[in-house]
Amino acid sequence: MNIRENIPLAPLTTFRIGGPGRFFCVVTNEAELVEAVIFARERELPFFVLGGGSNILVGDEGFDGLVIKMGIMGVNIHKKIKNPPSLNLASLGLGTPPFSKGESAAKSPFEKGGVEQSEVGDFTIIAAGAGEIWEDFVSTTVNQGLYGLENLSLIPGTVGAAPVQNIGAYGAEVSKTIILVRALDTETMKFMELTNEQCQFSYRDSVFKNQKGRYIITRVDFNLLKSGEVNIDYKDVREYFGRLVLRGEASLVARPRLAEVRKAIIEIRTSKLPDMKKWGTAGSFFKNPVIPATHFLRLKGKYPDLPGFVQKDGKYKVTLAWILDKICNVKGFAKGKVATYGRQALVIVTEPGATAKDVYELARELTERVRIATDIEIQMEVEKVGV
Ligand code: EPU
Repeated sequence: MNIRENIPLAPLTTFRIGGPGRFFCVVTNEAELVEAVIFARERELPFFVLGGGSNILVGDEGFDGLVIKMGIMGVNIHKKIKNPPSLNLASLGLGTPPFSKGESAAKSPFEKGGVEQSEVGDFTIIAAGAGEIWEDFVSTTVNQGLYGLENLSLIPGTVGAAPVQNIGAYGAEVSKTIILVRALDTETMKFMELTNEQCQFSYRDSVFKNQKGRYIITRVDFNLLKSGEVNIDYKDVREYFGRLVLRGEASLVARPRLAEVRKAIIEIRTSKLPDMKKWGTAGSFFKNPVIPATHFLRLKGKYPDLPGFVQKDGKYKVTLAWILDKICNVKGFAKGKVATYGRQALVIVTEPGATAKDVYELARELTERVRIATDIEIQMEVEKVGV
């Protein structure tokens, strides 16, 4: 494995900001990954795993350690499970993988690299290498008529990064489709297969994020449906299909098909979110805050239109984009080469020449304004790398 030194990281991220990585390597299989971690350990250096670079902000001084670019990829390998165990539908997507022993993930297809597909009745288990491009993977699943990932179309990044922050959009969260994550546990240096429950998924969070650096994901297994139902409940998606009906381009009664939903998501995202080729950005810069009901009701009294969604624990998730836009009035607010995006206030965009320091300065100002206006302490969604 080739370990290089002093590699500029900015071009490997969608913010296109930040200094170099002191050491850098690409790993294409699990053995190389182990080698890379040992390299860092022997030199007492921190390591950082890089996927698509679309949810990170690298500091201007770069990263004083080893950057491991995840390159465990694949070709399509289809395999049918001969004797599928009986399936407990309720547990699917939320528990034990429906593999029979011996044919389970222990036989990693990604030693060869690959996307492996196994069919169990109406359920299809698809495993993908961590380095696969997320959008290509979603496209593959939709083309095969599999339901579950269509609302997560066009999200930048890689398969291996998807569980880390439990990517979500348009009423879907990837955690609903994951049955197993294979990862190197860097504490024990053993490969583990974590069930959905062990991944501890919640809104934009997982064990991979809250035990930062412990696990390195090499493969993700998804459970998708062959005859599922599309989810078009999210406001923007509903409105999109409403417009099609008004124009006579869609039926009022028939549910849209899988490929039509994917097309809708792609169009909505393209119209609302900045083009990563044009702007330096990492999408939503902050998380939507989850606040106690009393706090939400107090704000709602003052701002009756404030969108809020009750969570399982009784707290409310509030729409920060709305707060930034309608309360703080900072949609399109610019400071030098950094600004909130004119069509989505939660997204920070940068022009060439912007630094990480510039981004943090704007972020600090936004954080302060939200605190003063609403008493909410907002948190970054984008991950900080180096200083
Ligand atoms: N809105 C405003 N002003 C704005 C933008 C939005 O008032 O500038 C209001 C609108 O009423 C809109 C509502 O806020 O209907 C929600 O906006 P949006 O649908 O864009 O959702 P969001 O909560 O701001 C989240 C994710 C996005 C994801 C969208 C769509 C987080 C942190 N962000 O944004 O994810 O695409 O939902 O489901 O949860 C990302 O993580 O990088 C990302 C882009």
